[in-house]
Amino acid sequence: MELEKKKAAEEAVKWVKNGMVLGLGTGSTVEFMIQALAKLVAKGLQVVGVPSSERTKELAGNLGIPLTTLDEAGILDLNIDGADEFDSNFRLIKGGGGALLREKIIAFNSKVNLIIADSTKQVEKLGKFKLPIEVIPFAKKGVLMKLEHMNLHPVLRLQSGKPFTTDENNLVIDVDIFAIEDVEALNHTLMEIPGVVETGLFLNLADVILMGKDSKVLVFE
Ligand code: 5RP
Repeated sequence: MELEKKKAAEEAVKWVKNGMVLGLGTGSTVEFMIQALAKLVAKGLQVVGVPSSERTKELAGNLGIPLTTLDEAGILDLNIDGADEFDSNFRLIKGGGGALLREKIIAFNSKVNLIIADSTKQVEKLGKFKLPIEVIPFAKKGVLMKLEHMNLHPVLRLQSGKPFTTDENNLVIDVDIFAIEDVEALNHTLMEIPGVVETGLFLNLADVILMGKDSKVLVFE
């Protein structure tokens, strides 16, 4: 899978043009892309990136990619990000790395969203991967009870035995949506729960998916 991630990542940087303002996603596939992008920057490519997480900010900054904020950048030319799952309708589950909120904000503010993934991420039906939901800490108990009531088997994400906190100091609750047919309706219902900040369902956001498959890259658009 690492080879497929690397192949997709290396293909993605071919979409980058001089002068672009880029969204930089989060995750291991994106890290391959950042390494490839840094090599192009070292050779003179002029771009500026808006990182979607502190983790990405550190890596891209250390590798010499010029960075800015979303406030400074406004609308981004191209956003390159990974996914935990995608289906044939370009619907994604994201947030395995806990960066879903900033990732979705960046995706929404980008002209083109390019998703890079290995072939294990392609699914017929979303939901084998648990759906991450970002929640304000104050609302934790109420949101957990509501999600339990919805039969989504919520689990508060932990890290080293403590609640995982996002870059925005929120919590993540992972839920099981495999039994759900209408994910658009589900997303709407989830977003109506007070305290839910964002879900990892990325609907109508992906424009192109580059999927590593063995030593090739398949382009879906
Ligand atoms: C982080 C994400 C990642 O894009 C997703 O988890 C995929 O990660 P990886 O490339 O490591 O498989 O949404 O919040």
